[in-house]
Amino acid sequence: MPEKILIVDDDIDSLKLIGLMLQRHGYEVVAANAGNQALNKASSEHPSLIILDVMMPDMDGYEVCRRLRANPDTKAIPIIMFTAKTLVDDKVAGFEAGADDYLTKPTHPAELASRVKSILARSATQKRQDTNRGFTIGVIGAKGGVGTTTIALNLAAAFSVKGENPVVADFRLGSGSMGLYIGFPQSGGMANILSKPTSEIRSSTIEDELIVHQSGLRALLSSTRVKEAQLTFPIDSAMAVVRNLRTIGRPAIFDLGSTLDLVAQRVLREMDQIIVVVEPNPVALNMAREMIQEIEPNGASSGRIQIVIVNRVQSNTQTPWHEIEHSLGQELRAIISPAHEQLFQAMRAAVPVVLSQPNAIISSQILKLCDDLFARVKVAAGGEMSY
Ligand SMILES: Nc1ncnc2c1ncn2[C@@H]1O[C@H](COP(=O)(O)OP(=O)(O)OP(=O)(O)O)[C@@H](O)[C@H]1O
Ligand SMILES: [Mg+2]
Repeated sequence: MPEKILIVDDDIDSLKLIGLMLQRHGYEVVAANAGNQALNKASSEHPSLIILDVMMPDMDGYEVCRRLRANPDTKAIPIIMFTAKTLVDDKVAGFEAGADDYLTKPTHPAELASRVKSILARSATQKRQDTNRGFTIGVIGAKGGVGTTTIALNLAAAFSVKGENPVVADFRLGSGSMGLYIGFPQSGGMANILSKPTSEIRSSTIEDELIVHQSGLRALLSSTRVKEAQLTFPIDSAMAVVRNLRTIGRPAIFDLGSTLDLVAQRVLREMDQIIVVVEPNPVALNMAREMIQEIEPNGASSGRIQIVIVNRVQSNTQTPWHEIEHSLGQELRAIISPAHEQLFQAMRAAVPVVLSQPNAIISSQILKLCDDLFARVKVAAGGEMSY
């Protein structure tokens, strides 16, 4: 499939000329002759590259560039700024607005072609690196007992149902209930690792401490032994665990409990996606709002935080969905229905509900959440991710 390039210029002759040159080199060309049209086409056409004129009547190229960079759908698309001006100031303004390269008009066709080729090659390399970088999901509860561990564990199970190779990690030293849910009550692999000097925390150290559930799901667990809670360790050690797990698990999912302590705060910074688990009542909502503000002062605009409501009790007195969305300032990503019976059976069998009862409503809701996160990973990696 030829690579698609979006050309933006208010001058129709210029559009035609550059379009022809690029078509001759085998690229597919999409054109826009104004800033707003450029923004729309960049979102809908998913071009591999944008060539952007600076001087346009409705919105100048710098502004278009800034808006493309602010939108999660378009922020990774490489941009070449194209203008008749040759002033150095313009070049600086272009780079500041987020351009990757700069060309001045009139440009020799050979120069245009070679710049396009090198930018496209660079961005393909970048995408490959992003793919190898792995993917991390942090799960944190707005308060204790809202279902954080259930979501983290079953989300990991859902990724394995989809054919991925996830690892789920329980960061709750001394109160790690995840092991209890899957039949490993005594496993304290996380504490064993964090007791070591930071320099000894490597991929192999971590792999040695992973447990493998009968389903094949891998986990790095904390136990409920009080001694674990008293363990002190440098934050760098926690970060070494996170960075190694990023490459071991595809994806790596972290149960961070419900306290935004220093470790959780640092770990959250490393997360590509953050799930905030909330109960549909005013207290949990207030706590969620506080927490989201602390994690991401710019809130929803980053696209990194996903709200998941866990509805543990069947009730008609809960806060309505639209009020919750309004008060948290973003859409709800998933609503999980009450599933006492199914979760109880899953606990008895020591198998995550998504695996033991794949047809239960709660399972389909979590599988759908998994699909949704999948799609976000793909967008982030420019559609080249294996998952
Ligand atoms: N959708 C649900 N319907 C009914 N019960 C649920 C649901 N989700 C979780 N639960 C139950 O709520 C209890 C707490 O769940 P879980 O351990 O996942 O919460 P948590 O937020 O991780 O708690 P903690 O703060 O203690 O770590 C468990 O008994 C679990 O089975
Ligand atoms: Mg928990």
